[in-house]
Amino acid sequence: SVVHVLNGPNLNLLGKREPGIYGTATLDDIRAKLDERCAAKGVSLVFKQSNHEGDLVTWIQEAGQAGAPVILNAGAFTHTSIALYDAIKGAQASVIEVHLSNVHARESFRHHSYISPAARGVIAGFGPLSYFLALEAVLENI
Ligand code: DQA
Repeated sequence: SVVHVLNGPNLNLLGKREPGIYGTATLDDIRAKLDERCAAKGVSLVFKQSNHEGDLVTWIQEAGQAGAPVILNAGAFTHTSIALYDAIKGAQASVIEVHLSNVHARESFRHHSYISPAARGVIAGFGPLSYFLALEAVLENI
C-alpha cells in the first residue's frame, strides 16, 4: 500500500522559516523519518510539496482515485481553500489534516480550517511529530 504526504505553500522553507514557530527540522528531515517508518512497515511513501494550490488539488484527486490515504499539511491554504475541501470531498480522499504549530493558539485567522470538515482527523501542534502521529493513524487502518 501507498501513503501520500502532501505539503503546501512555504513548507519548502521549513528549518529556516520562523524557527521559533515551526522548529529547525527541514521538510527533508521529516521525509527521511517518515520513509524509515514506512519502510519498516512495508508501505511506500509518496512525499510532495508545492506552493501552488492547483498542484495540491490534482494530487488529492489522484490519491483519492487510487484509494490511498493522504496526510495533508495545506499550510495557509488550510484557511482559504474551498478548492481543497471540494477536492477531498469530490475524490472521496481519506485525509488526515496536520499542522506543525497549534493553529488554535495563534492568530484568529488560523482558527478556521476549510479542510477539517472533510478530514478523517486533525493533528496540530506537535511539530514534526504531528506527521508521525498521523502516519501511525494511517498505519493502524491499512
Ligand atoms: C501550518 C499552519 C498554517 O497556519 C500556516 O499557514 C502554515 C503552516 C503548520 O504546519 O503549522 O504554513 O500549516
